Amino acid sequence: MARILITGSADGLGQLAAKSLADQGHTVVLHARNAERARYAQQHVPAAAHILIGDLSDRDETRNVAEQANAWGTFDAVIHNAGVYDASPQDILTVNTLAPYILTCLIHPPQRLIYLGSSMHRQGHARLEHLQRGISYSDSKLYVVLLCMTVARKWREVYANAVNPGWVPTKMGRRGAPDDLHQGYETQCWLAVSNDSQAKVSGRYFYHCAQERPHPQASDTALQEQFLSICADITGISFPA
Ligand SMILES: NC(=O)c1ccc[n+]([C@@H]2O[C@H](COP(=O)([O-])OP(=O)(O)OC[C@H]3O[C@@H](n4cnc5c(N)ncnc54)[C@H](OP(=O)(O)O)[C@@H]3O)[C@@H](O)[C@H]2O)c1
Repeated sequence: MARILITGSADGLGQLAAKSLADQGHTVVLHARNAERARYAQQHVPAAAHILIGDLSDRDETRNVAEQANAWGTFDAVIHNAGVYDASPQDILTVNTLAPYILTCLIHPPQRLIYLGSSMHRQGHARLEHLQRGISYSDSKLYVVLLCMTVARKWREVYANAVNPGWVPTKMGRRGAPDDLHQGYETQCWLAVSNDSQAKVSGRYFYHCAQERPHPQASDTALQEQFLSICADITGISFPA
């Protein structure tokens, strides 16, 4: 059985993935922004082993989440799920892009890393100069897919993959979203624990357990290096060699 950390698992796809993995007997560690949301998460996923607390829109709290994770041990899989849509450009940058970067750098590397992208990453533009001041949701998801491809290229011993969950009826996707909610979290769960050879791959982008081609900029190695350099400048944390 695997040990899995899921960020932003108080609600939505993170909570559903946590329930599914805990029901399969895996050791699931939740994460919520504050103590109140942690109580809510624990009520909804009572089989969870533990919960980390920290607001990912605050860089110091994000560092602290990494410390809490490392104090708990090394995970087999980390699902970088937390995200915001209706938020300021600065919060979108910090939660959707910089928090996964910081947590990837500081949490002991697991065997598998899963990053929640979005079909909207295809409308994104990697204008790195905007990273200093806030970005759109589409740009933030392009950067998180790019981060995933960078990790896959640099950490050959880790399976790092990105997932588009579809447009599904969560708090973010809203009621009436057209895609299937179950399919919205099953790919992350499959990538986190399956021994299927199709799940033990790296540097891929999935939609409903099938590979798709991500935005070509995500695989641009020169852009990846510039992205890491700017993230290091902004956060004060360098990507581990
Ligand atoms: N739903 C869709 O149609 C859709 C489509 C494409 C991609 N995605 C991606 O899928 C992922 C999950 O989305 P979802 O639909 O499950 O959204 P959701 O229902 O809004 O859940 C997002 C989760 O992230 C947490 N979170 C947000 N900001 C946080 C912060 N500053 N600190 C800590 N936790 C924070 C939320 O905590 P609270 O509950 O406390 O707010 C919540 O648990 C996101 O990365 C999203 O971009 C979703």
